[in-house]
Amino acid sequence: MNNLSKLFTNLLTVTLFVGLMFNDQLRSESEPYTPTTMITGANRGIGLEFTKQYLQKGWKVIATCRTPDRADELNNLKKNYPDHLSIMQLDVTDHNRIDELALQLSGIPVDVLLNNAGISGGSSNQIFGTMDYKVYEDVLAVNTIGPLKMAEAFYPHVKGSQLKKIITVSSSEGSIETAFKRGGGRLFFYRSSKTALNMLMVNLALQLKSRGIAVGMVNPGATDTDFMTGLPFPMRKPEVAVADMIRNIENITVENTAAYINYNGKPVPW
Ligand SMILES: NC(=O)c1ccc[n+]([C@@H]2O[C@H](COP(=O)([O-])OP(=O)(O)OC[C@H]3O[C@@H](n4cnc5c(N)ncnc54)[C@H](OP(=O)(O)O)[C@@H]3O)[C@@H](O)[C@H]2O)c1
Repeated sequence: MNNLSKLFTNLLTVTLFVGLMFNDQLRSESEPYTPTTMITGANRGIGLEFTKQYLQKGWKVIATCRTPDRADELNNLKKNYPDHLSIMQLDVTDHNRIDELALQLSGIPVDVLLNNAGISGGSSNQIFGTMDYKVYEDVLAVNTIGPLKMAEAFYPHVKGSQLKKIITVSSSEGSIETAFKRGGGRLFFYRSSKTALNMLMVNLALQLKSRGIAVGMVNPGATDTDFMTGLPFPMRKPEVAVADMIRNIENITVENTAAYINYNGKPVPW
């Protein structure tokens, strides 16, 4: 090969290389952004329904649950959404595991961190006179401390996303004003765990507002899941409750951060 054809070959290689780089840049600029949600307690009930509906919306979902091997519905969903659904082991009371997962996923944006996992503690364990205080510790660990620890560990992932939201599924049972209407003497652990959760999230909302992160709470209303088994009142289907909550989450921004939104879009009184 003479010098002229060598020069020509080199020029062609450089041109192709620059062309490819430019093409890549153009592609990433023109491709629509795919938001990601990370959901706790995603294997059943409301968490599973959130997973389904966010996937249907085209989002990426990091679905976490305590025992992925037994999460049959999630594993089946994975067959239809191999690129958009990842299933990760996570018990929200295991702080070491939360930190480990946050490290494992470092650099991955989480647009909506969705604290959904929750337990009631069982109504018979929280009757005045025979309180089971070990159960109270468990309820607080899952419903109250878990969401705070998740927010702390996944703050960089939320901060690095476009939508920047930390959302927790609370309950109108945590509303003190509503308790005066509904009456007392029941679900002491569950109700107070959600009231404390609300204060934690308001506190966090006020701190993170200037950093562009919105924090909010959503209430599904009485919803037909394992959580409510045997209760004798009308309940909404998870499909309906979750569609309502997704719409309400869309309406939570830094402008109305600390919102506590009922399924019908109205604020829940504190
Ligand atoms: N259903 C309602 O009417 C209603 C009303 C108001 C608020 N909520 C709230 O909605 C949320 C979801 O409730 P749900 O009705 O879907 O209840 P559910 O059907 O009983 O599901 C609860 C979910 O939480 C998970 N979970 C429990 N402890 C956990 C832990 N330590 N770490 C990680 N995950 C854990 C469960 O996982 P396992 O399968 O491993 O146990 C399950 O995936 C809760 O926060 C609840 O307080 C529900």
